[in-house]
Amino acid sequence: MQKEEIAALNEQFLHTDPREVILYFTKLFGSKIALSSSMGAEDQVLTQMIISLSPNTKIFTLDTGRLFPETYDLIDRTSKKYKTKIEVYFPSAQRVEEMVNKKGINLFFESIDNRKECCNIRKIEPLKRAFENLDAWICGLRAEQSVTRKDIGVIEWDEANQLVKINPLAFWSEKQVWDYIKTNKIPYNPLHDKGFPSIGCYPCTRAIEPGEDVRAGRWWWENPDTKECGLHKKH
Ligand code: ADX
Ligand code: SF4
Repeated sequence: MQKEEIAALNEQFLHTDPREVILYFTKLFGSKIALSSSMGAEDQVLTQMIISLSPNTKIFTLDTGRLFPETYDLIDRTSKKYKTKIEVYFPSAQRVEEMVNKKGINLFFESIDNRKECCNIRKIEPLKRAFENLDAWICGLRAEQSVTRKDIGVIEWDEANQLVKINPLAFWSEKQVWDYIKTNKIPYNPLHDKGFPSIGCYPCTRAIEPGEDVRAGRWWWENPDTKECGLHKKH
């Protein structure tokens, strides 16, 4: 797909219902598109939409080995409720072993470089494997989530991964996400009710205080403008 075509599609779908976006792009890309789910609130909305509109579209999640127990339960509950398979990708056991034995089990607290190395081994490398045979991926990013996301589009060219990236909820508010979850009785992570709007790995996520940025609890010891794990590089 040409970059001009992507820009035109982005204009066309700018404020379109996410279900229409999903329908259009799952038809267009067929087996070459998949949802990458962190099992967060946005991704649970997208999972429900995809299962009802395009049940054969692949849904996968990256198990870093350091997720919350509640997240593992949710993978199981969601698969059972929708009678679907969520494909799970794991990091290379050998690379995790080498990293942990060299730098410590909680190396990420020691420097941004260590944190990025851990994200790289536990998330990015498995993500690259999940991308084999894909032309496009669907994500739950919303523009409102952080300073690093304010300029996202509904359809983008993901230069870092050389794929088309679809963010059907780019312009949804947090309230729209939660209204949709409640109306459609979608299973969600109980940590969302305990002050965790954004949930990643257990050691790298804390609850937020009222009024704090929704991603303030992710890698809370770092600056807001470094807080991406590499999954969503700009370029
Ligand atoms: S992160 O990059 O900081 O971890 P965030 O948790 O906000 O991202 O999620 C943004 C989007 O990235 C999700 O909607 C999902 O598409 C993708 N994503 C994040 N974590 C994972 C994961 N563990 N497995 C699969 N996809 C993920
Ligand atoms: Fe490692 Fe933390 Fe990144 Fe998870 S979020 S992969 S534990 S650095």
